[in-house]
Amino acid sequence: MPAFMEPFRIKAVEPIPFPSAGEREAALADAGYNIFRIPARLITIDLLTDSGTSAMSAAQWSALFSGDESYAGARSYERFEQVVRELTGYPEVIPVHQGRAAERILLHQLLGDGDISVSNTHFDSTRASVEAAGAAAVDLPVEHDETTPFGGDIDVDRLRELLSGPAGARVRCVVLTITNNANGGQPVSVGNASIVRRICDEHDVPLLLDASRFAENAYLVLNRSPGLADSSPAEIARAIFGLADGCWASLKKDGVANIGGLIALHDAALARRCRAKVIETEGFPTYGGLAGRDLDALAQGLVEVTDVDYLRYRAESARWFADELERAGLPVVRPTGCHAVYVDAGALLPHIPPHQLPATALVNELYLAGAVRTTELGTLVFGRPGPSGSPDIPAPRELVRFALPRRVYTANHLRYVAESAERVVAKAADLCGYRIAEQDGGAMRQFTASLLPVE
Ligand code: F0G
Repeated sequence: MPAFMEPFRIKAVEPIPFPSAGEREAALADAGYNIFRIPARLITIDLLTDSGTSAMSAAQWSALFSGDESYAGARSYERFEQVVRELTGYPEVIPVHQGRAAERILLHQLLGDGDISVSNTHFDSTRASVEAAGAAAVDLPVEHDETTPFGGDIDVDRLRELLSGPAGARVRCVVLTITNNANGGQPVSVGNASIVRRICDEHDVPLLLDASRFAENAYLVLNRSPGLADSSPAEIARAIFGLADGCWASLKKDGVANIGGLIALHDAALARRCRAKVIETEGFPTYGGLAGRDLDALAQGLVEVTDVDYLRYRAESARWFADELERAGLPVVRPTGCHAVYVDAGALLPHIPPHQLPATALVNELYLAGAVRTTELGTLVFGRPGPSGSPDIPAPRELVRFALPRRVYTANHLRYVAESAERVVAKAADLCGYRIAEQDGGAMRQFTASLLPVE
């Protein structure tokens, strides 16, 4: 099979809009120069996120019809539970409506005032849950560059140091985010997870996975580990799940469906406490805020997502798209993972200082060039307001993420994105930065902030 050809054909289609240059300019200004606030009807290619944006398969659409909408103990739940148990090996399976509900429910059982959660990198909603519990989120990613195969790993030396030091007694969990979304979508190796397991045993701390992209992690592991090339993605996923005490996941990613999340655990007592919280905020624990039919679509999606042909296509198409963007003149971050291609806006726009948001400048210009929507992962998202009156403390890097919805866009769509990017690159030296005109000050200010161009 050609490495990056789509291993599926299209059965249902939906038209996409082509707003004119004038409409794009007006839409961006009306949105306060914040791409999150532009209505989807004015977006041609939407690479904002791979979350909840998948195209379902024919088998998933037909599974919807077998949804059992009983309030308690529905057959849909039994099907979902069985698939998750087989995939993860965890006996306790709790559905929730999306990833952040799982994070809040599970992490708030483990963390309280003054505690610490340590991770390769907490995703921003995970960090928000940790901090809402009164705890601190400590990220210990490995240093990595374009030659590092497992740039998602946690730095085990720093982990040991932290756990053996004075703060060690306050660490209540270690979290491996697979793949490491906030750190370039890079995979965590089985070797790294095994060492972390040993360290956690030595210090009697639970090891949890944020398994939102567990299948993509498994494929990248088998692709980058010469000794594992004959394993299946499901076997590798199972090996990593087997090293942890439990997981949560946003199933809006590798569940290949539009909504859903889960908590899965070995510990029955902890699961009982989580279920009590699920009843308070999500609903009865066998549906967890989802419709029965959603559970059926997810059960089918969780089987499809480990198909090696699909995963190869996913990884290879990301790599091909990165090559196209590079040919267009964008500085691409390597190696590519599966769910997104990251571009270094700081390198493209060195004349725009971090507090004038170079990543936002690139995102907005891509919208103006072709109604393409991407995400800024620079100082707008990760910068923090400095001491009063001074500019923001900048993010470590000014990245833009081109996320790839699952099974949605063809190579032609992505070529159109690269052509739009080429037009932006041609006038990169003339682009201006932005300043924040209004923000709500919260940890996720990027969703609501209004900006103004700095002329
Ligand atoms: N964990 C990871 C690694 C994620 O990437 C996300 C969401 C979540 C947890 C939260 O899940 O959205 O279902 O509540 N990431 C999306 C993104 C939003 O665009 O990367 P959720």
